[in-house]
Amino acid sequence: MSATCVVGLQWGDEAKGKIVDLLAEDHDFVVRYNGGNNAGHTVVHGDKVFKLSLLPTGVLKTHLTSVIGNGVVVYPPQLLKELAALEAAGVHVSNLAVSDHAHVIFPYHIAEETSTEQGNGSIGTTGRGIGPCYQDKVGRTGGIRVGELLHPKHLRERLHQIVPRKNRVIKALAPVDATDVKQFDADAVCDEYLGYAEKIKKFVKDTAYLLHDGLAAKKKILFEAAQGSLLDIDHGTYPYVTSSHSLPSGIWSGTGVPAKHLDRIIGVVKAYTTRVGRGPFPTELADGPEGIGERIRKIGREYGTVTGRPRRVGWFDSVATRYTAMLSGANEITVMLLDVLSGLSELKLCVAYDVDGERRTTFPSDSFQLERCQPVYETMEGWAQDLTSCRTVDDLPIQARRYVARISELLGLPVSIVSVGPDRAQSIPMR
Ligand code: IMP
Repeated sequence: MSATCVVGLQWGDEAKGKIVDLLAEDHDFVVRYNGGNNAGHTVVHGDKVFKLSLLPTGVLKTHLTSVIGNGVVVYPPQLLKELAALEAAGVHVSNLAVSDHAHVIFPYHIAEETSTEQGNGSIGTTGRGIGPCYQDKVGRTGGIRVGELLHPKHLRERLHQIVPRKNRVIKALAPVDATDVKQFDADAVCDEYLGYAEKIKKFVKDTAYLLHDGLAAKKKILFEAAQGSLLDIDHGTYPYVTSSHSLPSGIWSGTGVPAKHLDRIIGVVKAYTTRVGRGPFPTELADGPEGIGERIRKIGREYGTVTGRPRRVGWFDSVATRYTAMLSGANEITVMLLDVLSGLSELKLCVAYDVDGERRTTFPSDSFQLERCQPVYETMEGWAQDLTSCRTVDDLPIQARRYVARISELLGLPVSIVSVGPDRAQSIPMR
């Protein structure tokens, strides 16, 4: 096998990092193809815990090369901050490659997003400038790529064209009575970014060639999706999505590796559902401080890694995940955080939606339509036992096995791993 992809099938935070970590041993490259420092993953290395948002999960494994592909948007101060945190903990990163084609996030992107995220039309973004940077990439006249940071004269010229225009946009987007509208100086931005460039230039490469050379030498590649499939710019719950292709369709454009190399796609789901930010969520448990939603949030520690926001929590939605399983091409699924559901006498699984007097089992990804869908639930018996010490299928209570089997049946895919805790050992092989 040459390439595997690990992709979340919900709205992100499915604990993909754990699966990437389990598989990384057998691979030569771990590659990110989308998103930026809006993602968040916790990586455990010995007795140390790192919170990374831009660096690939594989960066701590010395035997492999970690790649930030061209589909990623790079905020250099964050990249350097994460590298410095690793360095301070004694982890020297030399096996990192950053695509020279990846687009760069500048402070004016963040200022632009601060303005557009005010008021009713907001998306509930992570506020990292991700959307405005991708807008500039697609708009072409305002985008700057990592490779351009290495050419000081060229970079200064580009910033002199772009920054005055950005200043006008930021002023225009600000509320009419705003007094503290941020404005930027092209030379100051340029000097700041040339400083970053000096520090990251050793990592900058044409990563498409790097990966193709790897494939030619029979090296194995692991692609790590950021965000979840329901946040995909094309197929997610638009407009409450992120600005990149989080589905595996993003791999070809976001790294230059054609789909024909991909022979294993692992869809990762939580045993329930979470979502951060605004947007419809049919199975949401908005049942107050004493409710099941809050219980799952507390036990599952469902707070954003990047922003610290409490995640919205709900029952497992098989209509949504069957849709993303289909789009992702997943051949198997892994069910994460099953242990969090222990102690609930009943569990609900959403198997259809009722909307306008009709029952449907397909997913309307347009948010305004999804908003009106009422979940239709199947109720299953829960289990009382703590699952965190289960190591084999036989250790799982029959109710937990039935619950996982029903998810598998609803998605039409085999379950390869059930996770009952953050440690590697807490991963139960299912076949
Ligand atoms: P953006 O990616 O910052 O533009 O945010 C767009 C939407 O995607 C918001 O609802 C965010 O909360 C959500 N989002 C972005 N990254 C993640 C992630 O890694 N996990 C979960 N939600 C995310």
